[in-house]
Amino acid sequence: MPFRTTVITGATSGIGKETALALAKIDHALYLLVRNVDKGEALKKELVAQSGNRSIFVVHCNLADMESVQRAATELKGKLFAINTLINNAGGINQTRKLSKDGYELTFAMNHLGHFLLTMSLMPLLQKGQARIVNISSEAHKIARPQLLNDFQFERDYSSFKAYGLAKLCNIYFTKSLAEKYVQAGITAYAVHPGIVSTGFGTELGGFGKVLMMLAKPFMITPRQGAETSIYLAGAAKLNPKLSGQYFKKGSVAQTNLAAQNASARNKLWQISEQLAAPFLI
Ligand SMILES: NC(=O)c1ccc[n+]([C@@H]2O[C@H](COP(=O)([O-])OP(=O)(O)OC[C@H]3O[C@@H](n4cnc5c(N)ncnc54)[C@H](OP(=O)(O)O)[C@@H]3O)[C@@H](O)[C@H]2O)c1
Repeated sequence: MPFRTTVITGATSGIGKETALALAKIDHALYLLVRNVDKGEALKKELVAQSGNRSIFVVHCNLADMESVQRAATELKGKLFAINTLINNAGGINQTRKLSKDGYELTFAMNHLGHFLLTMSLMPLLQKGQARIVNISSEAHKIARPQLLNDFQFERDYSSFKAYGLAKLCNIYFTKSLAEKYVQAGITAYAVHPGIVSTGFGTELGGFGKVLMMLAKPFMITPRQGAETSIYLAGAAKLNPKLSGQYFKKGSVAQTNLAAQNASARNKLWQISEQLAAPFLI
């Protein structure tokens, strides 16, 4: 496979870390977008030591801060001619309703909106690289309904699982829209459910959520196992372009819920995201 330039978010822990290590071992040049630069530099050292790959770089990027995403994209545009792979992996769930720096519900901001701005800001480089975009979603999208988009800020009835489910449904909508809108540019996009994986995910939860995580722990797969589908989609020499826009589980196309196939909700998400990202697009 020719040399590839890969940008990945959320590689300082869990699934993202294992994905980055596997791609470092097959000589991808890696740009690690991290919210904590000390953690990022420590990760870089570890990846270089374990893979022998010296083309690993750290870029500060807090996905819950639109200006930070804008700065990260500007830095990448200054350094790179093209990007071949973008892995939108960072994410998480929040026990209570919090707002991002820009005033957006945090789960929506960190799982979807920050990645939307990042992807759209990098679009010229992604087009030059005929990029694959891998968005980490979840089976949790199945608890969400398109109607939740009417109150994506969760000003009424916040629940950590509902907000997370909606954010992961947004990851699938975004994937399908990217696949559709950028097919002529040679861009492909894939959504992934990694499995139920033992990582830092859910450590912020309390109450029922915490009990659920504790009960599930013995049945969880390892971060390396959870990273397999991302590694396959980002690392495979060739992928069938007809699979662009699909949702993957265990390395194969999987069923979404009906809500994920709702084209009008998908278009509505695009409009909302475009409007919120517009002031920060470079
Ligand atoms: N674990 C599961 O069972 C499971 C199941 C389905 C889907 N997923 C999805 O898989 C993805 C990876 O999660 P994981 O399980 O590996 O969890 P994790 O170990 O908690 O890793 C989450 C990563 O996201 C980063 N991150 C969080 N908020 C960020 C922000 N605002 N800006 C930049 N980076 C941020 C974290 O950075 P720090 O190191 O700085 O905290 C960390 O690197 C997520 O999208 C998650 O929703 C996980």
